[in-house]
Amino acid sequence: MNGIVAKRAIKILLTLCIVFALLISWQWQTGSQTTVTPEDGVSRQLFDTEIVALLDRRCSNCHGVSVAEYARLETDPDSKLLLRWPVDASGRISSPDLREVAYERARTTRTEGGNKLVPIDAGNPALASKLLLAPLSETYAGMSMVHPVTFTSPTDSDFILLQRWIQTEIDSQPAPVKAPVTPAERFFVDQVMPILERKGCFGSNCHGLGVFNDLKLHPGVPVLEGRFTAAMHHQNRLSMLGHNSAQINMVHLSGDIEQSRQLLKNIPISQGGILHKGGNNFFNMVTRITRYCCSG
Ligand code: HEC
Repeated sequence: MNGIVAKRAIKILLTLCIVFALLISWQWQTGSQTTVTPEDGVSRQLFDTEIVALLDRRCSNCHGVSVAEYARLETDPDSKLLLRWPVDASGRISSPDLREVAYERARTTRTEGGNKLVPIDAGNPALASKLLLAPLSETYAGMSMVHPVTFTSPTDSDFILLQRWIQTEIDSQPAPVKAPVTPAERFFVDQVMPILERKGCFGSNCHGLGVFNDLKLHPGVPVLEGRFTAAMHHQNRLSMLGHNSAQINMVHLSGDIEQSRQLLKNIPISQGGILHKGGNNFFNMVTRITRYCCSG
C-alpha cells in the first residue's frame, strides 16, 4: 500500500517538474522576443514574402548591383546616397543576407555631406515617401523628381503593394516629433498658398524645383491628400522669404514691406514694378489701393 502511495507521489512530483520546466521555457521564449515589436515583425515579414519579389520585378534591373560592385559603392562617399542593393548573378535578391541589405536600404535614411536620402518619410502617409513617389509618373507624383516611369498610375497592383508595405513600416516606427506650426506659417498656408496656386507660380517653367531662377518652390504631390506636407509648406515659406537665395529683399522685412521683390515683380512696371519674365500683371496696385481707400 505504502509503495503505491510513494509511486503516485513520485508521478505527481515528476508531472509538476515537467509543467514547471515548460512554463519556464515558455516565459524565456516570450521574453526574448520582446526586442522585436509586433509591428516590426509584420513589416519585415511582408518585406521578405512580397516586397523582395516586387523589387526584383520592378526595380532591381536599375537599382540592383553585384555584391562586389555594392561593396565598392559603399566605400565611395559620392555613391552613398544612391539607392542600390546587392543582387545575385541572375539579378535577384535571393539569399537572407541580400534580403537584409535590401530591407535596410529601402527603409533607412542616409546622410552624407549635408545631403540626405530619405526613402521612407515616417512623419507622413506612405504617399509622401520617395520610395513610392520616385517611380510613379509625374501626373500623380508631381514635378519634384526626375525618374524613369515604373508605375504609370497608383492603381498598379505593385504600387498598391509597395504602398501597403511602406505604411506598415511607418506604423512600426515611433512618430517623429513635429514642430508646432507658428502663426506666420499658418497664415502662409491658409492665405498665401492659395494665391500662389491660383496664379500658377508652381508651373514647371516658373518656380518648380528644377528652374534656373532665384525662387524654387516645391510643387507638391498631386496624389497626396492635401498635396503638400508640413515640411513642404515650411520649405516653400522659407523660399518665398528668400532663404537660400542670392536675392536680397525678396520680402523687405526690415523696411518698407511694399518694396519687397515678391510684390514689385508682380505689379505693372508703370506702377513701380520691376521686370518679371513671368509677367507683371499678377496684381494691380491701383485696384488694390482704390479698394483699400474707397470700399468703405
Ligand atoms: C529604368 C531604371 C529604373 C527603374 C526600373 C527604377 N529606378 Fe529608381 N532610379 C533610377 C535612377 C536613374 C535614379 C536616379 C539616381 C540613381 O542613379 O539612383 C533613381 C532613383 C531612385 C530613388 C531616389 C530618388 C531621389 O530623389 O533621391 C528612389 C527612391 C527610387 N529610384 C526608387 C525606385 C523604386 C522603388 C523602383 C521600383 C519600383 C525604381 N526606383 C525603379 C532608375 C530606375
